[in-house]
Amino acid sequence: MPVDARAIFIPGGSEIDPLRRGVPVDKEGHPPPMARVENTDISRVRNYPMQPPTIPHTIDGYQVDLNSNRCMLCHARANAATFQAPPVSVTHYMDRDDQFLATISPRRYFCNQCHVVQTDAPTLVANGFKDIDTVMALPAPPGGH
Ligand code: HEC
Ligand code: HEC
Repeated sequence: MPVDARAIFIPGGSEIDPLRRGVPVDKEGHPPPMARVENTDISRVRNYPMQPPTIPHTIDGYQVDLNSNRCMLCHARANAATFQAPPVSVTHYMDRDDQFLATISPRRYFCNQCHVVQTDAPTLVANGFKDIDTVMALPAPPGGH
């Protein structure tokens, strides 16, 4: 009989077991449900400068290959106003020597290398990351910083 198990990490638990999710080795676990892609048009906060923003819309069927780049249909500077999409920033037109190119840089052509859709997937392992605003709001340690 398959055993139910969800990919949820219990903080303070004695084990981190993202693979078997606590299911005994002689039992077969149910695979966790696939995460749903959010299509809310609501951008998530970036945690640090130079973080690639997550994609606040679905990208099903958006092809990016040698002949066409669906993302640039809306995100190229020339088309951005028509589709009310934020244009890709200048970094996307720069080569590795920081020279500006007329078209999207080959280094930035495959958007999904860096940008991912937003899903409702549960967090698998605890994460104590604090952004700089949170760190600066903390009381100074005795003796100063
Ligand atoms: C049909 C037009 C369209 C296409 C095609 C499209 N986008 Fe978008 N994208 C938008 C719009 C409009 C927004 C602004 C937020 C919203 O309305 O979802 C957006 C927002 C984004 C953002 C968030 C930017 C920020 O500053 O937070 C990213 C990243 C992004 N898109 C990446 C992509 C990638 C990667 C692809 C291709 C896989 C893609 N988009 C294809 C229209 C498009
Ligand atoms: C090598 C990683 C990388 C690739 C590939 C890449 N991006 Fe980005 N993108 C970033 C980073 C990092 C940022 C935030 C800093 C910046 O603007 O350079 C960003 C920012 C953005 C933004 C927000 C711009 C703004 O002014 O806030 C959009 C929209 C975007 N990218 C779309 C795309 C699309 C569409 C593609 C594919 C044609 C793409 N990106 C390819 C890393 C990447």
